[in-house]
Amino acid sequence: MSIRTVATTPFGDQKPGTSGLRKKVAVFQTAKYLENFVQAVFDTIVVPAGATLTLGGDGRYLNREAIQVILRMAAANGFAKVLVGQGGILSTPAASCVIRKYATFGGLILSASHNPGGPEGDFGIKYNTANGGPAPEKTTDAIFARSKALTRYRIVDAPDIDLDRLGTQAVDGMVVEVIDPVADYAELMESLFDFSAIRDLFAGGFAICFDAMHAVTGPYAKEILERRLGARAGSVINGVPLEDFGEGHPDPNLTYAHQLVEIMYQTNDANPAPDLGAASDGDGDRNMILGRGFFVTPSDSLAVIAANATLAPGYAKGIAGIARSMPTSAAADRVAQKLGVPCYETPTGWKFFGNLMDAGQVTLCGEESFGTGSDHVREKDGLWAVLFWLNILASRRQPVEQILEAHWAAFGRNVYSRHDHEALPTDVANGIMDQVRGAFATLPGKTFGNYTVKVCDDFSYTDPIDGSVSTGQGLRIIFADGSRIVFRLSGTGTEGATLRLYLEAFEADPSRQRGDAQLLLADLIAIADEISGLRARSGRERPTVIT
Ligand code: G1P
Ligand code: ZN
Repeated sequence: MSIRTVATTPFGDQKPGTSGLRKKVAVFQTAKYLENFVQAVFDTIVVPAGATLTLGGDGRYLNREAIQVILRMAAANGFAKVLVGQGGILSTPAASCVIRKYATFGGLILSASHNPGGPEGDFGIKYNTANGGPAPEKTTDAIFARSKALTRYRIVDAPDIDLDRLGTQAVDGMVVEVIDPVADYAELMESLFDFSAIRDLFAGGFAICFDAMHAVTGPYAKEILERRLGARAGSVINGVPLEDFGEGHPDPNLTYAHQLVEIMYQTNDANPAPDLGAASDGDGDRNMILGRGFFVTPSDSLAVIAANATLAPGYAKGIAGIARSMPTSAAADRVAQKLGVPCYETPTGWKFFGNLMDAGQVTLCGEESFGTGSDHVREKDGLWAVLFWLNILASRRQPVEQILEAHWAAFGRNVYSRHDHEALPTDVANGIMDQVRGAFATLPGKTFGNYTVKVCDDFSYTDPIDGSVSTGQGLRIIFADGSRIVFRLSGTGTEGATLRLYLEAFEADPSRQRGDAQLLLADLIAIADEISGLRARSGRERPTVIT
């Protein structure tokens, strides 16, 4: 082997956030930036002899180049083999599936998730451990500490491999196997869901529109929905992954997936909207679910999936429990209560679910940020959620809207919305958070119209499995009837600070459950502004994104 040890100096800013290290492409293009971080990962995880690494990304700009560098560094750092997705492609849930199926020593996933790509966009890299899930905080902290201390990285001199040719090649003695990025994942999905019932559903004329947003799920959705399940050709739109996502913002929400929203809300009788609309994000772990002219909040989607879980063969025996992130609505809690299973409230970020799933405490997990998943992998999974909905629809044969109305009538409705204030100056965002924190002492017992504050706190979490404590996870104002206002600063933005305001009002009365969430939440929105001074401090009249 021709291992070279290259002298380097730390960058000091390579702190992996909730979803790995994310920076502008230009930063990753700085000489040695990627190499430093990858070496910090390899130094921290201590690669055992004979280890295999899983490697792939969402296909964004820099993906292919980064993969070639990582392959050369993996060879120099003692890996015996790397499984890499063809074309450098692996969706995040597919990477998790491959890590678990082939018991590899974790994986490196190249993605900045839903952030825009292209030369002006973002790039990212994340290490997942051998259970297939994101590295825990103690590992990411150790990686960060290492990145601030390292003085060299290791790399071999070897030519690029052909990423498009399936099969085995070598990088200076290390085996590289280029694998079909879809096959293992599709096989796992077939083992969980009733594909024959879903095929019947499509054969009966059911129509779906799946918007892959020119990101990684295009090939997955075409193979599974169109080829294996028989959805009509063209059901998958924007299905070709592009390095810049077609200049779009690959985040499946009502703002960025506007093409899908227009299709699902069209009222032209000659060309009716499909029965189900769905979208996924850059790396395939998020999902949005729409009925005809109807939006399903991710919090409700988790609750509906939980309430109907036994309809899917992979979950026919019932679920062990549910976990949701703190800002996610309590709709799932109500289902868990009825099923007699535990519901855990964790900080934001999928990694907090891993321990609970590994310990067999929960089967289903969800975040309000369009993340839903289960213990089949250790990541949230966009296409899995869509297939779960298809399985439910194939079994219940009701429109999406009716399923939701029946759910609310049975459990009550947790009316929900999130308001994002993106790219605020950091001091403005901190000022708003300080004002809310400052009000905590005087809020309990205070009444605003119909709402009386019960408690407020800065959410902290003690992991029930390993006892680790996470503090400062969001400012909660909880009202007597269970309604909530939560203020939280994003940990994934790359520009200024993003402040998220989460609003939730509980409505038990079926005659008042229908209707637009923004109208139903108007009082809480005003209360949030009164407490935080958000509009005055930010100088902005409205949020950047409302979901
Ligand atoms: C956002 C979401 C969070 C999700 C994360 C990664 O993080 O809010 O639920 O886990 O992206 O997809 P945030 O920017 O809020 O820190
Ligand atoms: Zn993502």
